[in-house]
Parts: sequence; structure tokens; C-alpha cells
Amino acid sequence: MYGIDFGTSNTVVTVREGGGSRILDLGSGAVVPSLMYFERDRRPSIGDEAIADYTEARGRFGGKANLYNSYRFFQALKLALKDTSFKGTTIFGGFWPAESLAGLYLREVKRRADRAAGTECRSAVVGRPVVLSGKAGLVGAGRSALDVEDAVVERYRKACAFAGFEEVRFVPEPVAAAAGMVSEISGTVLVFDFGGGTLDVAVARIGDGGIEILSSSGRDLGGYLLNEDVSRARIIRHFGSEGKIRTMKGTYLDMPRWITDQVASFYALPLSDVAATRRVIKELIYDARPIDKPSLRGLAEFLDRNLTFDLFGAIDDAKIALSSGLESEIAFALPPHLSFRERISRTEFEAIAKPRVGEARAVVMEALHSAGKEPGDVAAVVRVGGSSRIPAFVAMLEESFPGKVREGQVFTSIASGLIAARDSGLSAA
Ligand SMILES: Nc1ncnc2c1ncn2[C@@H]1O[C@H](COP(=O)(O)OP(=O)(O)OP(=O)(O)O)[C@@H](O)[C@H]1O
Ligand SMILES: [Mg+2]
Repeated sequence: MYGIDFGTSNTVVTVREGGGSRILDLGSGAVVPSLMYFERDRRPSIGDEAIADYTEARGRFGGKANLYNSYRFFQALKLALKDTSFKGTTIFGGFWPAESLAGLYLREVKRRADRAAGTECRSAVVGRPVVLSGKAGLVGAGRSALDVEDAVVERYRKACAFAGFEEVRFVPEPVAAAAGMVSEISGTVLVFDFGGGTLDVAVARIGDGGIEILSSSGRDLGGYLLNEDVSRARIIRHFGSEGKIRTMKGTYLDMPRWITDQVASFYALPLSDVAATRRVIKELIYDARPIDKPSLRGLAEFLDRNLTFDLFGAIDDAKIALSSGLESEIAFALPPHLSFRERISRTEFEAIAKPRVGEARAVVMEALHSAGKEPGDVAAVVRVGGSSRIPAFVAMLEESFPGKVREGQVFTSIASGLIAARDSGLSAA
């Protein structure tokens, strides 16, 4: 049996071994970036291999007008799977439902895991966010949060079946992390799992080798959203967001925001049909003030050349650098249209992320409240997930739980606890 932590940014797989589980090396280490490269007539590649193929393809197809017909590069497929308003995307003329796209990624994960384990395995315990109907906009139109929840679980099931798994059970991600800590901690434990896509919290009572889950809560808040916040605050203006469009009457209108927001839609953009957007941008270039034309040409080129991941990577790296340093830089160039270096200090980033820190505190307090606990009752707060290293969020936890906050295995805690959670009766079909 495998334990699969299918993360928005990273995937980790464990295999049952003896009385416990072992983390598998999936080819280039335990942690595989959740990325997929797709080219006509080729098996898709994932992780670091996908990045290498994407980089190579950009050179090879460089001169072509519409790269979307040559190759595709997907990131955060988990967000697409969770978003029931996203049905699928057309790749080289064939329609791919969200479940099959995520399933294709998981099939490659399974292939690597089978190779590492030395045997084929068709059963898995898969992690899932606590809340699957987290996007407020999704609920409504006659659908309750529970309907959406069921619909997303069904999409997860289909993706796992597509990947070749016959028996699948699910465990909320922070519950898995807590189950993996049974031999290390005792008392009331709060797991703060802050990853790329979601913030998930669980409160558990651990003792005498057993575990009881008291509550859990979650929200669509993660590293992706922070990167989008940074992009909206500091990047989209380089792509013309503050530009003006001349109307037929000779007056000026603001640039339509949905156009330049494309460079802050990191997961959605590679999945969307950019043809219509590209047409609109070309028309806007015609009517734009001369001063704004290069930015818009840069935006058109950004879409044409499929550069979402490059810009995303530059923002992600700069944000991560701010967890250890006090200043970093986001550099990006699309010659001859645009080129920028945005210096960003930790203080500036913290100002951008401030509302998110408040939202994260609310998720923590909600879990604590529904567990019937006060901060003083908690023996330990364990931070896991890459975003839990951001100093502003660490400070928020320290303030609420002074002296009790510690870092867990940031990238592997969830995977390590999945099989243990199943064995403790904490999984569901
Ligand atoms: N040192 C760091 N400081 C700030 N952010 C970081 C750091 N290291 C990684 N991250 C962020 O953590 C995120 C990835 O973390 P992780 O691998 O735990 O997410 P995930 O499990 O894939 O996502 P999720 O569980 O939400 O689906 C990315 O958004 C990345 O930018
Ligand atoms: Mg995670």
C-alpha cells in the first residue's frame, strides 16, 4: 500500500513496510514538484524532468507563433481538481477532463513509485485538504458545501482510478501528519499545515500510543495565493495594468483588469484557452497609449510563449528567500518589450501578506474552538508545509502559543503519517 501526499506544489509517496512506512525516492529524491509537461505523441513527464523538458522545448519551439499547439506545461493540477467549475482543457485537439489530467500526473507518480518499491501496488491512502469546497464562489447556484465536497471527492476517486489504483482511501492532510507523530508527542497537539494550495489545521489528543482527532479546519490559502498577491501588488503593472485605452470618442479608459490579471493566475492560465485573450490584447495594443504599448506586447508574448512557470518561479524564489533574508528581487525580461527587477523587502512582503496572516489565525482559532480547547490547553503546535516557514506566520503562532511552536518535517510529515492514519481508523472511502 502507498501513502500519497498529492500536494499543490509537491508530491511525496510512502510505502507500507513492516509495521510502519517508508518514504520512497521517486527518482530525484522524495519530493517531486507537482508539475507536468505534455508534448504531442510523448508520454508526459513530471517533477524535475518536466521542468527540464519545458526548458528544452522553449528553445526547440522558440520561433513558433503559438506554442500552445506544440507543448503544454501544467502546475498545481490539484487546484484544478478541486475547482468544480473547471471541467477540463483541450490539449492538441482532444478534451482532457480535470480528473484525467490529475490522473495522468498520478499515473506517472505511480509508475515511479512502483519502480522504487520494486513491485506494482494498486492500493493507496491519499491525503486531501480538510475542506474541499473552500472557494466561496463555488457554493451557491443551488449547491451546498456538502454537494461540492462530494463532487470533489468523486473527482479525486476518478483521478486515482485513472492512475491505476483500485483501492483508495482518503485522510485529511493534517490528520495524517498528527497520526505520524504518535510516537513522538503526547497531549493536545495542533498541526498547522500551510502548503502551496491550502492551510489545514487539526487538533488531536495523542497519548498511550493512540490518537483522537478533536477537530479540523481549512481554507484555500497557501503559497500560490501569496504569490498571486505579490504579482498583483508588484508585477502586473509591468504588463500594463495601470495603462489607459483610448476610446472612439477620444477619452481614456482604464485597462481592463481581467486582462492583466492573467499574470497573477498561475494555475489557471496554463489550463485556459488563451486564444480569445490574445485576440483582445492585440486589439488593446492598437488603442493603447504609446507609453503602454510595450507592456501589452510583453503580455501578448508572455501568453504566446507559455511563460507562466518562469514568472511564477521568479516570484516563488523571491518569496522563499524572504523567509531567511530581509530583501530579495524578482527579475523578469521579455526583450524587446519589457524587463524589470522588482526589489522586495521582507517588510514589504509582510504588508502584502498581512490580511492572509489574519485569515490563518482565524483558521487556527476555529479549529481550537471546535475542539473545545483554549490556547493554554495545547501542548505543542507543529508547523508543516513549506509556507509554514514564512516568519510572519511563525510569529502569529508564537504569539498565540508562546514557547510551544515547533517545526515538523516540513515536506514529508503528511506522507509519513498517511498509512498510520489509515491503521488508526482515520481514513474514509
Ligand atoms: N522557506 C520557505 N518560505 C516560504 N515559503 C516556502 C518556503 N519553502 C517552500 N515554500 C512554499 O511552500 C509551498 C510548498 O509547500 P508544500 O510542498 O508543503 O505544499 P503542498 O503540500 O504541495 O501544497 P498543499 O498541501 O497546500 O496542496 C510553496 O508555495 C512554496 O512557495
Ligand atoms: Mg501539503
